[in-house]
Amino acid sequence: MPATPHLDDIVNQLSDDGYCIIPNFLQAPFAARLHQYANAIPSQFWSTAAVGRAQQQTINTMVRNDRIRWLTDEHEPESAYLAIMDELRIWLNRQLFLGLFDYECHFAHYPSGAFYKKHLDAFKGRSNRRLTTVMYLNENWQDEHGGQLVIYGERGQVLKQVKPERGTLVVFLSDKFVHEVLPSFRDRLSITGWFRLNASISGIVDPPR
Ligand code: OGA
Ligand code: MN
Repeated sequence: MPATPHLDDIVNQLSDDGYCIIPNFLQAPFAARLHQYANAIPSQFWSTAAVGRAQQQTINTMVRNDRIRWLTDEHEPESAYLAIMDELRIWLNRQLFLGLFDYECHFAHYPSGAFYKKHLDAFKGRSNRRLTTVMYLNENWQDEHGGQLVIYGERGQVLKQVKPERGTLVVFLSDKFVHEVLPSFRDRLSITGWFRLNASISGIVDPPR
């Protein structure tokens, strides 16, 4: 488990701002292992990511053109990452009373040229996704590689541009922050996930995978 100072930072930043950016949340050797592991997953096991929820899901490569693969706890190091995020879930529940019930996440691979246009991960009252997490796996990311995560504020202003550097964790309220991934000029690997509430809201169940 990452050191407690990280956990305190996450709690403090989340309660002040609704988002947080934590460099070196994962130790480099473990992030490197996840990177190697994801790189070794053959391409037929990745799927084109969908846009929208449930019945409205479509493949729209004008909006996003990354490829994804969901993690399960059947294999190392996926299970180790899930265990870390579960500890974070329990910590957040204890400190912030968020009532987070579970966590789901997928690897995302942005081949060179890929992007994900401005979007929200959840719409108020229409999803049980409460917090989004993104963990970056590439090392030595340079500005000219692009692929930054841009987080926007309520008036459309840029709040943060995050370099997708190995070990950095980003967490934000899923229904509050519009965000986008700028075109990446290098293979970009990350793990995107969601802490969820245990509720199907107004009969709308989260999308099947
Ligand atoms: C997503 C997403 C951000 C990133 O997968 O929904 O917004 O930086 N990812 O990879
Ligand atoms: Mn998103």
